[in-house]
Amino acid sequence: MITAKELRIKFIEFFKEKGHSAIKSAPLIPENDPTVLFTTAGMHPLVPYLMGEKHPLGTRLVNYQKCIRTGDIDEVGDMVHLTFFEMLGNWSLGDYFKKEAIEFSYEFLTSKKWLGLDQSQLAVTVFCGDDDAPFDEEAYNLWKTLGFNKNRIAKCAKKDNWWGPAGQTGPCGPDTEMFYWTGEGEAPELFDPENNLWVEIWNDVFMQYNKNEEGKYMPLEQCNVDTGMGLERVTAILQGKASCYETELFTPLFEGLDALRGIPSPAERCNQERIIVDHVRTAAFMIADGVVPGNVDQPYVLRRILRRTIMKGRELEINKSFIPALATIVIENYSDVYPELKKNEAVITDELQREEEQFARTIEKGMKEFFKLISKVPDHVKHKAISGKNAFKLYDTHGLPLELTQELASEQGFEVDTKGFEKAFKKHQELSRKGAEQKFKGGLADDSEKTAALHTATHILHQALRTLLGEHVAQKGSNITTERLRFDFSHPEKMTPEQKTEVEKIVNEVISADLPIVCEDMEVNEAKNAGAIGLFVDKYGECVKVYSIGDFSKEICGGPHAERTGTLGTFKIKKEESSSRGVRRIKALLINKSTQ
Ligand code: ALA
Repeated sequence: MITAKELRIKFIEFFKEKGHSAIKSAPLIPENDPTVLFTTAGMHPLVPYLMGEKHPLGTRLVNYQKCIRTGDIDEVGDMVHLTFFEMLGNWSLGDYFKKEAIEFSYEFLTSKKWLGLDQSQLAVTVFCGDDDAPFDEEAYNLWKTLGFNKNRIAKCAKKDNWWGPAGQTGPCGPDTEMFYWTGEGEAPELFDPENNLWVEIWNDVFMQYNKNEEGKYMPLEQCNVDTGMGLERVTAILQGKASCYETELFTPLFEGLDALRGIPSPAERCNQERIIVDHVRTAAFMIADGVVPGNVDQPYVLRRILRRTIMKGRELEINKSFIPALATIVIENYSDVYPELKKNEAVITDELQREEEQFARTIEKGMKEFFKLISKVPDHVKHKAISGKNAFKLYDTHGLPLELTQELASEQGFEVDTKGFEKAFKKHQELSRKGAEQKFKGGLADDSEKTAALHTATHILHQALRTLLGEHVAQKGSNITTERLRFDFSHPEKMTPEQKTEVEKIVNEVISADLPIVCEDMEVNEAKNAGAIGLFVDKYGECVKVYSIGDFSKEICGGPHAERTGTLGTFKIKKEESSSRGVRRIKALLINKSTQ
């Protein structure tokens, strides 16, 4: 029986045989890309290369990429949804296109040498065409040539068979998706993509358009292939399991949970158990990549995931610490493939324990607020209820989850207006979404002059901080919009006003010196020896791009950058604040010379 570990190896081996270079899984937190909180697909770290930059390892790439998607977090708990997953992917950067991509997928899936799946259990979809782009006849015909009859090739609309930046600009195109029949016996002759027993296993995206500012789809000069196969799903299929939760990726976690509860393994798992193992896995990977629980952005997602885990634990009547122990199993299970877990084991278990304890205190305080609230309701009131607004306040301000409010309320003979709660919640989400949209302007897919200038300013700032505060300063995150830069770095204390002024002074001196910015491709070791700094040293494999700003700074980065520092304008720090424990955050602007 093939394991997930073997599947990863096979995938990489297959594509290596086809001339691809293997690249490492990038961190879960995108570097310099404000359009997403997490890496959600293998293509994300490759955006600059899909836009035409040259990749140091060539035009054919392959990897397994750790991903997080929290969009359907409420569906986790069923048999298929996961918040963390691994995506197997291969890329052509302006090299091969539809023919080879489809033939590669087909060979890997069906050849006895590789996965050996039975073609009669497979079906595919292709893009049916609309006003923006025509029917993907080429993909359709390629599948036919490979022996798929027309009943097994469904033509679908953009909502299913198109990949690209939703509502944004950037590279995109039609895709073709492969499905496997997971029902009993022979697959039905006619393929129905809406039938859940047909499980999507692989997606080949043909990036041949660039969606421009006016929403028009312009043919791309460089046509790329971007594919993604779900490791967990395919592992389950290859093992004949009904769900990825039944594979070795999860079974040790369930067993650990049973041991903690002191119960024998049940015949069937429940939603709460699935949510717990999924979330603990996600949390461990997030912390290994530097996220700690907090109140905004990634830290907030982590906090939410952990609180939900604790609540599910309560539902299973686990009233002691259980998350760090389960995380230890994740670490053991995955460290050979993702050594960052073992490396950060102490941080992972410490953070989890701290959050568990803190949430226990939050619950206690939230409960006090709850009792304060209900004490205001006179005894003689017949229909005692907690309004949606108050339930939301308990949740939003005091951290008391709705489930808990409901539990307490029913014990006290109160009803909770859950509809009103949802309304208040939606309103809150709407406001956050608007804020997020604002934030999503700019970024890597945007190589405007302003953005490039802010990237360069970020490098100068990074070096200036190291010069002034010390070498312990390391980048912990960076987010650039067309308006401002935001830089997170390790430093134990608040910067003094004098330090801020001094950093501004250093940066502005470098700008005035009008230094050239030079980019060189280097071997990783060469870059290290040359003293280059940068967070993700081995992300791109053996060879990296190093940007030098005169003799002042040398940093590994994908770009884009200004040509000379003299074009940047005046650097001004707007804010210096805490981002999380031991990490400071600077927001800064470049004030254009002409507007001074
Ligand atoms: N980027 C494509 C996906 O995630 C392959 O489905």
